[in-house]
Amino acid sequence: MRIAVLLGGTSTERDISLVTGRAVGLALAEGGHDILLVDPAFGDEAVGPREAEEAAAIGSTPPPIREEAGNALRAVAGEAVSGADVVFVALHGGTGEDGTIQGLLELAGKPYTGSGVLACALAMDKRASKIVLRDAGVATPDWQVVSFEGERDPDARGGSPWLPNDLPPGDAEEAVRRLGGPPVVVKPNDQGSTVGLTIVREEAEIAPAVRLAAEYSRHVLVETYIPGREMTVAVLGGEALPVVEIAPKSGLYDYESKYTRGMSAYTCPAEIPAALATELAASALTAFAALGCRGYARLDYRVTPDDRAFCLEANTVPGMTAVSLVPMAAAAHGIDFVGLVDRIVKMALK
Ligand SMILES: Nc1ncnc2c1ncn2[C@@H]1O[C@H](COP(=O)(O)OP(=O)(O)O)[C@@H](O)[C@H]1O
Ligand SMILES: [Mg+2]
Repeated sequence: MRIAVLLGGTSTERDISLVTGRAVGLALAEGGHDILLVDPAFGDEAVGPREAEEAAAIGSTPPPIREEAGNALRAVAGEAVSGADVVFVALHGGTGEDGTIQGLLELAGKPYTGSGVLACALAMDKRASKIVLRDAGVATPDWQVVSFEGERDPDARGGSPWLPNDLPPGDAEEAVRRLGGPPVVVKPNDQGSTVGLTIVREEAEIAPAVRLAAEYSRHVLVETYIPGREMTVAVLGGEALPVVEIAPKSGLYDYESKYTRGMSAYTCPAEIPAALATELAASALTAFAALGCRGYARLDYRVTPDDRAFCLEANTVPGMTAVSLVPMAAAAHGIDFVGLVDRIVKMALK
């Protein structure tokens, strides 16, 4: 098959996407497919996976701050994508994971991996997905939203919902009070990789935390802090894969702990009671279905010391590097990386 891998892009997670995309490209090539890698940050230039690996031809330039008008559009309309049987979306965050690129691929009539427009958009908007999760009976931490968007000025608003309980930035302390006070977690509503996130342990930290998160998002999510352990569940083709437990050495599963080898310890299958494993699997499948995900996704959880699981978010384009969590869970289930990417591609063609 001819497969175009979209990687890179212009989000804050560009660098990780480059690693994911190259790993996926090499694995698909190993599986016997013809592969071209396309970086929508630069338009429709395409390179083979080996070239990309050897010369690091893609990604040798610093990430563009803003998408140059039309580049992503040219990438999807260009020869590499039009000539492909299927597109592997390896873009993390931003327009690659929020449904925008997926919409272009829909319009182009090109089959692509992973979730469609609405599931991607919902999953990228943490608050929107929490509303859906709660409605589906999936436990998620209590939350409040501090909004930097005008209530009565729809023209000044972005695409994210504005709800009557949203608080203006001056009332950030009130948001924390409504949650029963610190500790709380303050994060941008639509970023990944723990960018712009603060664990707030006392009142004085609220304002700076909200300011930091607001650098990345017009909506700031304030969540009850869930003490305990960090777990994640991958869903692949209607099945929940073995639970991965993550123990970041720094205590917080931040950008560095996520992407630096040795900064976190992983256990898969997690050493947890069978009942908890069953509950996490059921919860992940419910969350996957409720958000309308397709193919594969990864659901992040916090689990309290008394084994109550809270879903934090869904990742519709999860990391797929050699040290990533979905490949780890697949391996524990007997599926190697080449087999994993092959299954993801096959599901895109169904
Ligand atoms: N409510 C919470 N309670 C405890 N830890 C949290 C909470 N929200 C986030 N975290 C920590 O921050 C990390 C990143 O948060 P998450 O919501 O998964 O966003 P993203 O991964 O998209 O940056 C989590 O993996 C977890 O370690
Ligand atoms: Mg996460």
